[in-house]
Amino acid sequence: MIGLNGVKYVLSYYGFDILALNGMYKKKIIQSIGDQVGYGKESDIYEVLAVNDKPYILKIHREGVSFKKVLNNRPNMYKRNWFNISTKSALREKEALSRLYSYVSVPKPIATDRHFIVLEKINGTMLKYTRLEDPDWFFDEIIDEVKKIYHRGMVHGDLSEYNILIDEDRVVIIDWPQFIYSKEDRADKTLINDIKNIMNYFSRRYSLNNEIDAVLKKVKD
Ligand SMILES: Nc1ncnc2c1ncn2[C@@H]1O[C@H](COP(=O)(O)OP(=O)(O)OP(=O)(O)O)[C@@H](O)[C@H]1O
Ligand SMILES: [Mg+2]
Repeated sequence: MIGLNGVKYVLSYYGFDILALNGMYKKKIIQSIGDQVGYGKESDIYEVLAVNDKPYILKIHREGVSFKKVLNNRPNMYKRNWFNISTKSALREKEALSRLYSYVSVPKPIATDRHFIVLEKINGTMLKYTRLEDPDWFFDEIIDEVKKIYHRGMVHGDLSEYNILIDEDRVVIIDWPQFIYSKEDRADKTLINDIKNIMNYFSRRYSLNNEIDAVLKKVKD
């Protein structure tokens, strides 16, 4: 970017965070930031306090280039234009959650600004770290959500024990930027892959075995 008097400016990684944070303050969404509660492969997750004193979740998208790569190899960052990629991911996640929220068990989307998305905070633990008393019941609940998602015209695309939160007897499906529409060519393959991930997890952990064809039929019917 060329500024006044031909001086060159480059928007840094931290600068982009500050701009998004300022945007969230200006829109009166966030009043303060709390602890970091998650380190995803391509995101940082913080608990934040909203202006209405409610705890929300702030997910900072870091897609496009890994944070470590940015620190070690700054010129790469500018070439890859990661801020467009991470902003698109936040918007994509908002698009998915907005379409699903009234129909499917997902966190309510509150707002986005650049690569930031603020979400309803779910009080639960990742399926991976929960010991289920009644795995059959939870498996059916998850497949029911997959069915509702499919009938809203969408497929998650990265469904696994890492992207499902268990809040007492409620399952909540999180992490949506890679979702696809069910009319896309690769939707069937992606749906089967999502279902297989869940089936494999329940088979490994709880010796619960199902037939892919039967589960797929249930989802699509
Ligand atoms: N709405 C939420 N409420 C509570 N905790 C959340 C929420 N969203 C995310 N988290 C926490 O942050 C973690 C990472 O979130 P998410 O899966 O959306 O990000 P991610 O970067 O895609 O992670 P990964 O790349 O590892 O899949 C979750 O496993 C969960 O512990
Ligand atoms: Mg995830």
